[in-house]
Amino acid sequence: MKTCTIGYLPELDYSGTEALNTICSNLLFAGQNMKKIVMTSCSAGDGKSYLTMHTAQNLAGRGKRVCIVDADLRRSMVIRNYAMETEGEWIGLAHYLAGYNTMDDIIYQTNIEGMCYVPIGRDLVNPIQLLDSQAFDDLLKMLTANFDIVLVDAPPVGLVIDAAVIAGYCDGCIFVIEYNHTKRRDINEGQKQIEQSGCAILGCVINNVKFDSISAKRYYNRGYYKHYYSKYYTKDGKKTKKKK
Ligand SMILES: Nc1ncnc2c1ncn2[C@@H]1O[C@H](COP(=O)(O)OP(=O)(O)OP(=O)(O)O)[C@@H](O)[C@H]1O
Ligand SMILES: [Mg+2]
Repeated sequence: MKTCTIGYLPELDYSGTEALNTICSNLLFAGQNMKKIVMTSCSAGDGKSYLTMHTAQNLAGRGKRVCIVDADLRRSMVIRNYAMETEGEWIGLAHYLAGYNTMDDIIYQTNIEGMCYVPIGRDLVNPIQLLDSQAFDDLLKMLTANFDIVLVDAPPVGLVIDAAVIAGYCDGCIFVIEYNHTKRRDINEGQKQIEQSGCAILGCVINNVKFDSISAKRYYNRGYYKHYYSKYYTKDGKKTKKKK
């Protein structure tokens, strides 16, 4: 098997690690038939690839055999963002779907034990016909026979139909929502597209949450604390009255 190295995968902080552990545990309990999981979102930069990489790393750390399929065939940034390197030219999904290479040619063992990666190989202008094919289905089936879980990193749903097509070949979908950014209307639209493909939406991950501000707000806006806080303190924390 070919090999590659992931040169850069930043460590998560405490809350990120906790959240990822929850996501991965839920994924492992989603059922025996939930092996091909597509990651999508409403727009570029929501964190689909970031989540895919960290989920794969987490699952591999639990002893699972995981394969990432990079299916963002129009403009994947994974190799660049994670400083991935291999010997020679990358051969990937585009080469296989176009009939130039075999499945074996496009699977790379990474430097993380248990984690493999299928790159895109090259950008395509219109990958729909190649993706919506028996060859893509065959590849995912072969991967599920050889790995515990297959994570398919897709482009955003909505702008182009790729993600919905990819979802049609997967068992479940994780929908990434960017905190304070993704619009409700777009989420509804994306949800509709995925559901029409017949793929089950397993849940959504709210990414980039400013955890400190949320927990502080929830804490102080609740019952007694809200009352207490607003009675004796102004919003910026200054005292207003003396406690009796
Ligand atoms: N929770 C996070 N913490 C820190 N950085 C993050 C987080 N989520 C995403 N990023 C960073 O934000 C940038 C965009 O994320 P990413 O590439 O995963 O988005 P994407 O949804 O895959 O976008 P695209 O649709 O363009 O592929 C990357 O540099 C990534 O490292
Ligand atoms: Mg991406």
